[in-house]
Amino acid sequence: MNDILPAEAPQWRRLEQAFRARAELYGYGEVRTPILEASELFAKQMGETSDVVEKEMYSFDRHGDALTVRPEGTAGAARAYVEHNLANQEPCTRWYYVGPMFRGERPAKGRYRQFYQAGCELFGDAGPATDAETIDLVLAILRDLGIHDVTVHLNSLGDGDTRERFRAALVEYFEPLRATLSEDSQRRLDKNPLRILDSKDRADQEASKGAPRILDILGGEDRAHFEGVKAHLRALEVPFVEDPTLVRGLDYYTRTLFEVRANNSDLGAQSTVCGGGRYDHMVEGLGGPKTPAIGFAMGLERLLTLMPTATGTEAPPVVLVPLLDGEATAGAADPSILAARIAKGLREATVRAEVDTRGGKLKNALARAEKRGARWVVIVGRNEAERGIAAIKDLAKRAQHDVPLGEVVAWLQAARAAGDERGTG
Ligand code: HAM
Repeated sequence: MNDILPAEAPQWRRLEQAFRARAELYGYGEVRTPILEASELFAKQMGETSDVVEKEMYSFDRHGDALTVRPEGTAGAARAYVEHNLANQEPCTRWYYVGPMFRGERPAKGRYRQFYQAGCELFGDAGPATDAETIDLVLAILRDLGIHDVTVHLNSLGDGDTRERFRAALVEYFEPLRATLSEDSQRRLDKNPLRILDSKDRADQEASKGAPRILDILGGEDRAHFEGVKAHLRALEVPFVEDPTLVRGLDYYTRTLFEVRANNSDLGAQSTVCGGGRYDHMVEGLGGPKTPAIGFAMGLERLLTLMPTATGTEAPPVVLVPLLDGEATAGAADPSILAARIAKGLREATVRAEVDTRGGKLKNALARAEKRGARWVVIVGRNEAERGIAAIKDLAKRAQHDVPLGEVVAWLQAARAAGDERGTG
C-alpha cells in the first residue's frame, strides 16, 4: 500500500481529471459506492474459484455481517444498480468510478495491495456496437494521458450453449493431464475448468498449451456478436488483436473480453493497464431483471508509470520572511505578526503564500525561497516594521523594493500580473 505525497498528487489529479472528462463525454456519470460490501457479493459474482476470491480478499466479520473490503468495482456497481431499481427507469445506464481497491496479492512493481482503479460500467445494452464503443473509450482515455504504445487484446467467451460445450471440451482435454496439474487446478477441473487457463502456475500453463480454444467452438449468435464487435471496432478505427488465449481471472464474464497491455514498458507481467468485458448475467443474478452489461477498469498506478511527466504547473508561493532577531513582542509591529497578516491578505487575494518561520540567517531563508521556485520574497524585519514598510525582493532581477505595509498585497498582485512567476524566469 502506498502513500501519495504532494509531489506526486498533481500527476494523480491530472490522470483522474482526464479520465472523468473523457468518460463524461461518452455519457457516463459518476457513482460512489461503499468500500465495504457483503463478502457474499464478491464470492458469488467474481467466483469461488477465482484467485481473488480464493486467496486475496480482505474479509472480516463484524456485528454479525461477513464483510469484504472491495477488491474491484463491478460487483458493487451492479448491486447498486439493482438496489436503486434503475432497470425500470433508464433504458441504458452509464456509470464511472475512481477509487481504491484492495487485494492481498504478492506485491511487485505495478502490483499493490491497495491500488486505484478508474472504471466504467454500462447496463442495459447487449452490443456489439456498445462493446466497440467501450474499447474506443479506453483508447481515447489513454491518448488523453499521452499513452499511445499499447495493444488491445480481444476475445469472446461466448455464452450459454457455447460455454457448456467449451467446458465439456476442457474437461475432456485436461482429464488425462490431471496428475500434472497443480493442486488448485485439479480442484478447478471439477468446479470450473476455465480457471485453469489463467492459472499462474508453470505446470498448469504448460498443460494449457494445447487446450481447445473457445473461438473454434464459438457458434451461432455468439459468433455473430463477436464478428459484430470486430466490424464496429474497424469502423471506429480502433486497432486490436484477436487473442484466443485471453480468459481473464473473474467468473462473471460472458462474450466480449478485452485487455489493453502496454508495449515496451518495464512493468513486466503487470503491463495490463486495463481489463474488461461483458457480464450479461450479473444483474439478474443479483435479483434484478435480465440486463446485459459491459465495463472495464484501469489500474492507475500502472498508467502513472506510462504517462509522460508534465512539468509543474502549480504556482510557486510568495515567501514571507519575518526576521526574528531579538525578543518577540507580539505587538502590532512584531515582524512575525506583520508577516502573518500580509500572508493572510495575499491568500484572501488568492495568491499562494508561505511564511518561512525557520529563523536564522536571511541568506539561508532566501536560498530556501529560491529552492521553492519563488520569485518574490517579502522581508519584514524590526527595522522595516518600525518604518511601516516591508522589503520585497525580486529573486529574478536581484532587485529590492521598499513598499508600505498596507500596499504589499496590491503591489505583489500588480507585479505578478506583469511578469513571470518563477525566480529563474
Ligand atoms: P481486473 O483485471 O481484475 O478487472 O483489474 C483491472 C485492472 O486493475 C488491471 O488491468 C490492472 O491494471 C489493475 N489492477 C488489478 N489488480 C491490481 C493490483 N493488485 N495492483 C495494481 N493494479 C491492479 C476488474 O477489476 C474488473 N472489475 C474490470 C471490469 C469492469 N470488468 C467489467 N467491468
